[in-house]
Amino acid sequence: MEARHILATLRKGEAPGPEELAWFGGAIATGAVSDAQVGAFAMGICRTPLPEEARVALTLAMRDSGEVMRWELPGPVADKHSTGGVGDCVSLPLAPALAACGAYVPMISGRGLGHTGGTLDKLESIPGYTAEVSRDRLRGIVAETGCAIVGASADIAPADKRLYAIRDVTGTVESIDLITASILSKKLAAGLDALILDVKCGSGAFMKDRAGAGALAGSLVGTAEGAGCRTGALITDMDAPLIGSAGNALEVAEAMKTLTCEAISEPLWDLTVALGGALLALCGLAGDAAAREARIGAALRSGAAAETFERMIAALGGPADFVGAWRRYLPAAPVARAVFAEHPGKVAAIDTETIGRAVVSLGGGRLREGDALDHSVGFSMLAGIGETVDRNMPLAEVHAATEAAADRAAAALRAAYLVTENGADPAPLIQQRINA
Ligand code: URA
Repeated sequence: MEARHILATLRKGEAPGPEELAWFGGAIATGAVSDAQVGAFAMGICRTPLPEEARVALTLAMRDSGEVMRWELPGPVADKHSTGGVGDCVSLPLAPALAACGAYVPMISGRGLGHTGGTLDKLESIPGYTAEVSRDRLRGIVAETGCAIVGASADIAPADKRLYAIRDVTGTVESIDLITASILSKKLAAGLDALILDVKCGSGAFMKDRAGAGALAGSLVGTAEGAGCRTGALITDMDAPLIGSAGNALEVAEAMKTLTCEAISEPLWDLTVALGGALLALCGLAGDAAAREARIGAALRSGAAAETFERMIAALGGPADFVGAWRRYLPAAPVARAVFAEHPGKVAAIDTETIGRAVVSLGGGRLREGDALDHSVGFSMLAGIGETVDRNMPLAEVHAATEAAADRAAAALRAAYLVTENGADPAPLIQQRINA
């Protein structure tokens, strides 16, 4: 095979064949193609959408560019992936709830990307927690506790690491084919039997409208199924933060209240149960949708999920008593104060991306690769769409390192909220199901 020929095919607006894409996907990792050729390849695919068979071939080659895990466990190996949002901490209750239902969940997660939060950043607000573990340790923790939320080791899909870095600097991130191959090459390297995707749609998502979210969900489901993994997707609302908090430790706190049933966040509970129920179906669990969702709910209510979460946190270096004593462990920001709307009314719309960016500016996310995070900062008690705000009911509480940072974040928050006399009704949380 010759890179030049494949690139010329793309230049003419034609899709290369599956064998050619499989070759190129592998060559990205071995170094048989130069940075210039990888950049041209990424640009070519942005301009020439791939048919499904070709996308599957590229994804499998990128998956196989590194280690692919194989498991021998007494239950299905399953995982969830979210395309990213604000206040999305579903992985925290979902992974242990699935484990408590008999699934094994090697959840290879990421850090914050742009304005969206990352599961690993959230979990690293827990003292001692380490997301970097060897493959053998990951195997051991999954076998012992049923779940482990960790980062991707260097040997997981190295082709994606190189391709992603080149896409980042060549304006070629926004391609459904490349996003699909990137996400799935890493997820499928975990050796999954089943995968559920939470494709976010709205002002806080990468996909702002239903057409884009539907196209991404269809591409992800078709490609993962073509690669031999039972996969479904829910398209879910991201026109508002999922929960009332945005920021690493603040989201962990809210997730802990739901996981322990101390104060349940309804959207977090509903999404956990919906994604978990759909994933149990993909795992081949008998019964109807209501029964499967009830199993996830029972795992949360009985304390079995919380107990599993505590064992996972301890196995990954965190405190052994985290579930009972999380308030003692999570960091708190020195400045915490209410932010009020400029005039009373009801919330009609939220620019959710602006809220995510305000968290990043507070120090809760990265502006440059390698930036250290302040896990304590962000917002809590965020008003939802349709809720009343006035002199007594704030838009949110801001948590910041300094008064000046709190002032800037408060101004950004006010700009993110549209408050009118009548407000609006919140969108349905689950907007569409694909193969789920
Ligand atoms: N997340 C990924 O892992 N890859 C992409 O291309 C986009 C989001």
